[in-house]
Amino acid sequence: MPSERSGAFAPGRVNLIGEHTDYNDGLALPFAITAGVTVHAQAGGGRSPDRITADAHDLGESDEFALANPARADGWRGYVRGTVAELARAGFPLVGARLEIAGDVPRGAGLSSSAALEVALALALIALASEHGREPPDELDRTALARLCARVESEWVGAQTGLLDQLASLYGAAEKAVWIDFHTLRIQEVPLALGGWRLAVVDSGERHAHASSGYNLRRAECRQACELLGVSSLREAEPELLERLPEPLRARAQHVSSENERVSAAVAALRAGDLAGLGVLLNASHESLRDLYAVSTAAVEKTVQALLEEGAAGARMIGGGFGGSVLGLFAPGASLPAGAREVRAGPGARAL
Ligand code: GLA
Repeated sequence: MPSERSGAFAPGRVNLIGEHTDYNDGLALPFAITAGVTVHAQAGGGRSPDRITADAHDLGESDEFALANPARADGWRGYVRGTVAELARAGFPLVGARLEIAGDVPRGAGLSSSAALEVALALALIALASEHGREPPDELDRTALARLCARVESEWVGAQTGLLDQLASLYGAAEKAVWIDFHTLRIQEVPLALGGWRLAVVDSGERHAHASSGYNLRRAECRQACELLGVSSLREAEPELLERLPEPLRARAQHVSSENERVSAAVAALRAGDLAGLGVLLNASHESLRDLYAVSTAAVEKTVQALLEEGAAGARMIGGGFGGSVLGLFAPGASLPAGAREVRAGPGARAL
């Protein structure tokens, strides 16, 4: 008797360092957080066997649509329909289901609630189909699944994001950061050994929307810089070469190039237990994102300043920018400012 139910959990992420490097074949060092999205799926729960019914418990909203060729929709519905459609397009067998979605990652705060939703949905739907004897075409490859989920963002939501959020959610591990080289897609775990130091996020209060923000514009600028330099990605461009670019492309490329170096330096600092050094790198990353990449806002600046004034050894915006959350690093004994939420590295996405 096949099980009628499946479930999956996928975490959000905090990017320790390495911002706007993923779509430039660069380096990043995110970690999965303990907060995430949980999806429970019950077979045949829709009105008919070939339909999906989805309940978003946090929002008190629902959706219903046919498994085959779902129509487009806005907001969270777009992510659910997109994940179903992209799974089907990639050849994953699916069964009609009722989906119960709940989560504790704040939406739009730069903690990747959308990647967590896509990944949890995908894992729950794949598990449910396989309970019904409908195995996926190939053994589940987490990197391929990350690409599939990123296609939901680009094809269904209109955000040309990279693979940072999905890879962090899928490869995260307790007490580990995930060191990703987006050129080779090599992923290595780096112990997030904080030795009493603490990481905390504060919401700037400003909500971002990738599609309408400058995110896609920044990507286009990086592409243009590559065309002018005759390289296929900014990873290939020697730092001296960047001088030839006109502004603002030079500044954009200089951010990416220096941010890659800061990721390598952060890995070294973590391995050496040099947390004060990590704080210096976080500050440098933020300054570069603000001054060269121009993705900060007044509300984000205020939040970063407040964290530094309240004793953070380093603070920076995380995620795509134009609002969202700020990350702060606090020395042992320092108290966290009001409203700060401590974040720890938790396990990656999994079937329940
Ligand atoms: C968002 C995107 C990621 C990445 C970051 C910036 O989180 O989804 O792919 O580009 O912005 O580092």
